[in-house]
Amino acid sequence: MTRVFSGIQPTGEPHIGNYFGAMRNYVRLGQQYGSDAIYCIVDLHAPTNPAAYDPATLARLTFEMALANMAVGLDPEQVIFFVQSQVREHTELSWLLTVNTPLGELERMTQFKDKAGKLESIPAGLLMYPVLMAADILLYKADTVPVGEDQVQHIELTREIARRFNHAYGPTFPEPRAVLEQAALRVPGVDGHAKMSKSKGESSTIGLLEPLGSIWNKVRPAPTDPARVRRSDPGNPDICLIGDYHKLFSDAQTLLEITDGCRTAGIGCIDCKKRLMPGIERELTPIQARAAELRERPETVLAGLAYGAERARAIAAPVMDEVRTRMGFLRAGARP
Ligand code: TYM
Repeated sequence: MTRVFSGIQPTGEPHIGNYFGAMRNYVRLGQQYGSDAIYCIVDLHAPTNPAAYDPATLARLTFEMALANMAVGLDPEQVIFFVQSQVREHTELSWLLTVNTPLGELERMTQFKDKAGKLESIPAGLLMYPVLMAADILLYKADTVPVGEDQVQHIELTREIARRFNHAYGPTFPEPRAVLEQAALRVPGVDGHAKMSKSKGESSTIGLLEPLGSIWNKVRPAPTDPARVRRSDPGNPDICLIGDYHKLFSDAQTLLEITDGCRTAGIGCIDCKKRLMPGIERELTPIQARAAELRERPETVLAGLAYGAERARAIAAPVMDEVRTRMGFLRAGARP
């Protein structure tokens, strides 16, 4: 049996890296596995990043993230889709897994090192972040986790955590594996950053729900192959972020023409960027139209999430019972 779990943080507007790297996969796996595909807006993770968290906007960003996923095609009647903080078992399991996780393994996580390096005071929650992530996955005994490449190390740690628990308390959890979207392991930022990222702010991202004019204003000045200084210099579309975006958005014919045009200096970078826009428009317009519709009836979004939380709890509660029993806690009303 396959059970899919994935989570997405409500720390900013969803972007095309989230979309191609993860959200599209959620929809595909949801169509395949129905209610064995479980997706979560991981709002409990958000406060670990002081730069991207504000209590005044968290609820709105959580709602927006749910709406965007539904606009992409995630159907809350088909899959289980909910908000992490509405299913209390996530925090409980997170603690029970924390007690046995070696500090050294957490300190080795590259995302922790990156984020901690930018902070003067490091919140303990930032270190524990991957344990909460492991709890998210293991709470549903999920074995399949669609993510972008940046999360692979965390999934490896989840496997370690599951293995350690099984060894200490008896076989309980499967060891989950990451499923990657090969075409979009790491979508680069439009400002030239190696990875498009919500936390790097709007100059790095192309929003899934961003107006096309605003997208063009970011694409037009975007850096391209640095070896192409003059219009007459040939370029290499494989080391150019606009080339990467064409691979995600453009049809085969356009891709062939821009690749050839770039290598032979037949087209300039601005032409190449203009030719990217129809593909972006084709992909994003229907998503933005569905988002606009959903925005007119927010109660649909909220009802979908409430239904999801109810079904998530129904799976999580017996797993937590099993974990508590295996770990030897005194059960309410039961003799030791
Ligand atoms: P988050 O919110 O940063 O990103 C959500 C998903 O989008 C992918 N992604 C990308 N893929 C390709 N190119 C990019 N530029 C890019 N940027 C983001 C991420 O890999 C991710 O799959 N820790 C997770 C959230 C989480 C989670 C979980 C995931 C919490 N619990 C349990 C899986 C299972 C995160 O911060 O994702």
